[in-house]
Amino acid sequence: DLSVSWLGLAMANPLYNASGVMCRSVAELEQVRTSAAGAVITKSCTPQPRVGNPEPRYCATPLGSINSMGLPNAGYPYYRDYARSYPYAAGKPLFLSLSGMTLDENLDMLRDLAAAELLCLPEVNLSCPNLPGKPQLGYDFQACSEALTQITRVYQGPFGVKLPPYFDQVHFAQMAAVLNAFPGLRFVTCINSIGNGLVIDVERESVVIKPKDGLGGLGGSYVLPTALANVREFYRLLPDKHVVGCGGINSGREAFMHILAGATVVQIGSCLYEEGEGAFARILDELSALMVQKGYQRLDDFRGKLKTL
Ligand code: DHB
Repeated sequence: DLSVSWLGLAMANPLYNASGVMCRSVAELEQVRTSAAGAVITKSCTPQPRVGNPEPRYCATPLGSINSMGLPNAGYPYYRDYARSYPYAAGKPLFLSLSGMTLDENLDMLRDLAAAELLCLPEVNLSCPNLPGKPQLGYDFQACSEALTQITRVYQGPFGVKLPPYFDQVHFAQMAAVLNAFPGLRFVTCINSIGNGLVIDVERESVVIKPKDGLGGLGGSYVLPTALANVREFYRLLPDKHVVGCGGINSGREAFMHILAGATVVQIGSCLYEEGEGAFARILDELSALMVQKGYQRLDDFRGKLKTL
């Protein structure tokens, strides 16, 4: 039994897409919805449509991926309208990712979403690393606190935030203190890509993506230990919230690791991009087999129970 109940939502299993992958158009969103995934999340949106950065802007390697997409999206109303027509009763929850270029843009979208009274939950992205000249909000604790103060004034329902990876225990504690001041914040998704990595092609002696002279967000196996550390630390430091694990899940083993570290549910990014929606059924089969081998009947039997030495 892989089912998960959280935030009053029922999911048949804990896997869904990471925002950005297979979720820009209705056709792609429907691909996820009609797959074995347990939920669906939309591409991070801005109030107006955006074409994004010049191509090539995504590249896979044997160890993961690098991207600098630049927030190409069909515009907030497109995803809100998808959320309006979404068949919630079928038991596959919908999350709507918001990534305004300014706090006011996020507040405008959240005000509209609150008025629409939909059953989808917002995941507010505090961590897009790919906009030239724009720092990631998640690395400015004071700005996050001020943003969350205003967000919770305009949006009173349950919501979550997508966080960048942190690399220092003092930063985990400082960010946790900010987040714990907002009881309406019900989940944190850890992690967004490790920002501004550089992949080099030795044959061409070149970068592999065009924007930002080759710098881009890293995903996939490169980021797994960083993702697990962020899931584990926020699981401990945010006892009244859920942690959504994201980063480096390629098989049932990595999904198990994220849940053992404390993730309630998990998202698949690079692997889904490379393999397509068949990845969900494969990873679920692998997770089930691993649980049978270990004698676990449900996810609660091992969630958060990582041992220390
Ligand atoms: C993009 C990348 C991200 O990591 C993110 O959180 C939002 C948008 C992008 O480049 O489109």
